[in-house]
Amino acid sequence: MDRNLALEMIRVTEAAALSSARMMGRGDRKAADQAAVDAMRRAFDSVDIRGTVVIGEGERDEAPMLYIGERVGSGWNHADPNHAPRVDIAVDPLEGTNLCATGQPDSIAVIAVADDGQFLNAPDTYMHKIVVGPWARGAIDIAKSPTWNLSAVAEAKRCAVSDLTVVILERDRHNELIAEVRKTGARIRLISDGDVAPAVAATQPESGIDMLLGTGGAPEGVLAAAAVRCMGGDMQGQLRWRNNDEIRRAEKMGIKDPSRIYHLEDLAQGQVMFAATGVTDGSLLRGVRFHGGAASTHSVVMRSKSGTIRFIEARHHIGTKPGLDFLRART
Ligand code: FBP
Repeated sequence: MDRNLALEMIRVTEAAALSSARMMGRGDRKAADQAAVDAMRRAFDSVDIRGTVVIGEGERDEAPMLYIGERVGSGWNHADPNHAPRVDIAVDPLEGTNLCATGQPDSIAVIAVADDGQFLNAPDTYMHKIVVGPWARGAIDIAKSPTWNLSAVAEAKRCAVSDLTVVILERDRHNELIAEVRKTGARIRLISDGDVAPAVAATQPESGIDMLLGTGGAPEGVLAAAAVRCMGGDMQGQLRWRNNDEIRRAEKMGIKDPSRIYHLEDLAQGQVMFAATGVTDGSLLRGVRFHGGAASTHSVVMRSKSGTIRFIEARHHIGTKPGLDFLRART
């Protein structure tokens, strides 16, 4: 996968972040999401790829843009089919819509890219997830208890379980999980939404997060897996179904065993790339700042091929940059 593509992907996540950040704190999660989707879709038009959305805003009949199967990138308009790389695209233009609508941490705009057919085509259901950094690669087993996993990770990290910090979504479904983790003595950071940024943060040495545990969105699980692959961390997931109808729909998408445990490479195989831009301040990235006529963004991009991780700060001049008119100050 071409490394120049990494910068192109950042342009796309920046556009989504800049646009949705204008809606921060307005209490309107749908409008914030729409702003991100519109900007991301527009930005894709100038990227020279032949991309197919495999994780997006939903199925074709429920999403007008960035729907599963939609073709994105200017490469499709070129007569020569070998002119631009053919890639699969996983997007979440605004991950953590509530977080943006209420101005809380860890709302991000995200893209992951893989060669054709290399992402799990995750259905729109839940996934039970465990994510750790490179220091605990090979030490986790989602089939075992949280207590077992915490002591395995502590051993791999050569620290006490009480030194570990675990991120868990604050949901009723996690009451038992939270009680068990509390019993082990590990520290917990409960989050109200948005488990992609903390999953990626768990792979970073200085983030203060050692593990993500619990059940969140399955598409978000695949996005996180792309970053975990790039960082050399580890992750396992198991789909959690709300009803039989979901299982039937998933079977049509090619899921043969509904209780299968997915290892990292089952979620994101081959060469992958991950890019994200902060919308609100968070554990991984700073949020968008507006400075009267200009705005600054903080992004991260990584590729599994090189393992390089780049944090990119950018200052955008709204008046001079084509396509950013929609960002002019609102009254
Ligand atoms: P949005 O779709 O509003 O961005 O929410 C994302 C999210 O918080 C994910 O980060 C998380 O995996 C999932 O939703 C949790 O789902 P639920 O809110 O149904 O528990």
